[in-house]
Amino acid sequence: MLIIGSGGAGLSLAIKLAGCGVQVAVLSKFALTAGSTYYAQGGISAVFDADDSIESHIEDTLDAGAGLCNPEIVRLTVTQGKSSIEWLRRQGVAFTEDVTPTGEKILHLNREGGHSHRRIVHTADATGKAVSLSLIERAQEHENIHLFEHHNVVELITAPSSGETGKAILGAYVLDSQQQTVKTFTAKVVVLATGGASKVYLYSTNPQSATGDGIALAWRAGCRVSNMEFMQFHPTCLYHPKAQSFLISEAVRGEGGKLILPDGSAFMQNFDPRGELAPRDIVARAIDHEIKKRGIDCVYLDISHKSEEFILKHFPTIHKKCLKFGIDITKQPIPVVPSAHYTCGGVLTDSYARTDIGNLYAIGEVASTGLHGANRMASNSLLECLVFADRASVDILAKLDSIPTPPRVPDWDDSQVSDSDEEVVVSHNWDELRHFMWDYVGIVRTDKRLYRAMNRVELLKHEINEYYRYFRVTSDLLELRNLVIVAELIIRCALQRKESRGLHYTLDYPETDNGKPPQNTILTP
Ligand code: FAD
Ligand code: SIN
Repeated sequence: MLIIGSGGAGLSLAIKLAGCGVQVAVLSKFALTAGSTYYAQGGISAVFDADDSIESHIEDTLDAGAGLCNPEIVRLTVTQGKSSIEWLRRQGVAFTEDVTPTGEKILHLNREGGHSHRRIVHTADATGKAVSLSLIERAQEHENIHLFEHHNVVELITAPSSGETGKAILGAYVLDSQQQTVKTFTAKVVVLATGGASKVYLYSTNPQSATGDGIALAWRAGCRVSNMEFMQFHPTCLYHPKAQSFLISEAVRGEGGKLILPDGSAFMQNFDPRGELAPRDIVARAIDHEIKKRGIDCVYLDISHKSEEFILKHFPTIHKKCLKFGIDITKQPIPVVPSAHYTCGGVLTDSYARTDIGNLYAIGEVASTGLHGANRMASNSLLECLVFADRASVDILAKLDSIPTPPRVPDWDDSQVSDSDEEVVVSHNWDELRHFMWDYVGIVRTDKRLYRAMNRVELLKHEINEYYRYFRVTSDLLELRNLVIVAELIIRCALQRKESRGLHYTLDYPETDNGKPPQNTILTP
């Protein structure tokens, strides 16, 4: 078994399978903590409050998804919320607790945008770190799990098959970036758990690893990809010249944080009656609108009306980070801007995380399961990682014994390539791609801007493919090669959607088309 990715999705699956006696190799292209999971702040949505219900969580998710969620997938995911949290607690994750007046310990629940109840289970404001470190610890101590850091997948290996899809997975070619060699991993089953693609944009809350590799790998191998136009921009990323990609959790707004303009006036009520707790697409667009209309650099998020004790208890990480940049959030508002945050679309999967290629699965942010539709609701992503790791494990365990051992495959051939002395081409193209994606394929789109971006993607693709053909692969080159494909898929999906819906907003078609049933965008290689 080969799992590509050591985030919440990949490690949960590895631990489940290893516990059933399966030998599992887990790859991470950087350190084990490299993915978005480690950086998650707000928490994981699940129904625990006595006044809350599964039906309400379903309704909120469907509402945020703007008509494109698959209701069956939403129900099965939401229903597994409580058991997923309990599983994490058994892996050692310590969630923040409250004590009731009768002395009983219960989970403390945050509130976030789009949720009509408090239902976010969390570890202060560093939930991802707690989840990630516990899962890594469990994986490291398991004899059936073999962890490979700094192993970057170059390409999936497939073979024709008589099955339904016409292709089955055999393994992957993998760059060991410390040894600078490409190794061959064969496996009966391969799982993509590679996370999202938000690094395709200039400004993002995501870590360096989020370059959409799994989406590009699956696409090149022959899988369908869906809903890539729905790239989510988080409304509140810290705005400071020296702060790279630091998120200010939606939980700050959940606890009463107000969005204000430089003159101190609040503005969210002008856009949505839910104010600061409207779904993310609405809040991000409102901020973008105010910034552009007023020619200002940022807006501000103010939680300073809460007591210092409250802020330090609930937001210790955010407090410490902001203080490092001279902002004391107990006294001052926080400068914020929207940033690319989450990839709602991805590799099309069914309810057991199966892709179009036999024995190739996709789980976590890389997948398009139907849960998020046109806009993911806050804190539903880590839940999806856990639930689909579980569902994939059920399917894999049921068939693993019947899958033949893959044949030997030829080793990676780099006899015809040389070391590059033109690395500047790669870094220049990285910058160019992320700049025009931000400018032309961002929060507000037009067809003209999308075509402009597509022309540039075509040129870059050509240049990068030439480069790939003649020079030895490096991690930067692999990521760029994947990012340019992801950019193309986002633009193609965006051009197909002749309406505004959820996260996709275009000035050419500003209304949602309610005249016909809403359609997912599906691209076939
Ligand atoms: P990741 O955790 O991103 O892991 C991807 C893994 O794949 C990494 O190990 C990486 O090294 C590996 N990888 C990628 N490409 C390759 C390759 N080519 N070869 C080998 N390995 C590869 N969601 C919530 O539900 N609640 C939150 O509170 C929340 N807060 C967030 C805060 C921030 C700042 C960010 C960025 C995201 C947040 N999200 C949150 C979203 C959520 O964290 C992610 O969607 C989720 O963690 C993705 O998990 P994953 O396992 O799919 O991928
Ligand atoms: C946050 O804490 O605001 C991030 C939550 C999420 O992306 O789900």
